Amino acid sequence: MHWYLTFFSLAGFFVEYGFTRLTPEFIHPCTVDNRTCLIQSTIYAIPYFTKGMPELGVPPLDPFYIERLTIPLAGMKISFLKGNVFGFRKSVIDNVESNFARRKFAIELHSNVTLNGGYEATGKILNFPINQEGEAKIKITNFKMIVMMNLDIMTDDKGVNHLFIKNYKYNVGYGDKVHYNFTNLFKSHPELSRTLHQLLNEHWKLVAEEFGKPIVDYATELAVRTIEKFFLAVPYEELIEGPIPSFK
Ligand SMILES: *[C@@H]1O[C@H](CO)[C@@H](O)[C@H](O)[C@H]1NC(C)=O
Ligand SMILES: *[C@@H]1O[C@H](CO)[C@@H](O)[C@H](O)[C@H]1NC(C)=O
Ligand SMILES: *[C@@H]1O[C@H](CO)[C@@H](O)[C@H](O)[C@H]1NC(C)=O
Repeated sequence: MHWYLTFFSLAGFFVEYGFTRLTPEFIHPCTVDNRTCLIQSTIYAIPYFTKGMPELGVPPLDPFYIERLTIPLAGMKISFLKGNVFGFRKSVIDNVESNFARRKFAIELHSNVTLNGGYEATGKILNFPINQEGEAKIKITNFKMIVMMNLDIMTDDKGVNHLFIKNYKYNVGYGDKVHYNFTNLFKSHPELSRTLHQLLNEHWKLVAEEFGKPIVDYATELAVRTIEKFFLAVPYEELIEGPIPSFK
């Protein structure tokens, strides 16, 4: 029994001091539930984190890449192809809060976001059959997002603790303005294209609410998977100082 304990304290010792710190330099650990520190650390980490950390297997979030995403919209089917989403690097962090005893963590931010890429549209719009492809640009001014996560801690096969995301939900707001631009929408009817753009851009909020969910689902899932990879690569102790609060 005694030997056993010694063995584990030694193992702990090596985990703490025997290896180089795995966490990138830009991560500043916080004491548990320290909101001021969490906000500061997140603000500091965002530009680095969104750039990606290939050495930890964490892909970039700015831009992030959409190979293909198909969205039904008012009798049409629109696919985005080889799209890039820019802007999260410059997110403004509005709040970060945790209640670690309940394993809850939330982050709130807003950001100007642009989606650039190809599109294909098929179906019918304004009673005109449409079968087009071209370039799409969608620009969201002050896109707001709050992500609420339930976390937990697991111990890997080396005895190192890691955070993991059990589940999450989010709320978004499409902010101040969404601007849509699809080139080549009606090849031989430029007026029709103008009318449709006017319609989309006048009713930007309605369109975004109808249309945005699959894109936001995709983006949030990607961001959460990215955070998860980061948690897997980095020990809990290098993110949060002090003993792990017991679950309440
Ligand atoms: C919370 O974090 C701030 C900023 O890092 C620090 O100045 C303060 O001492 C911390 N408070 C506690 C209770 O640890
Ligand atoms: C987004 O752009 C608007 C208009 O250019 C600007 O006022 C706002 O501060 C920007 N927001 C962010 C989060 O950068
Ligand atoms: C869409 O973008 C093209 C090319 O940048 C530009 O010429 C056109 O005026 C834009 N249309 C709208 C509705 O913003």
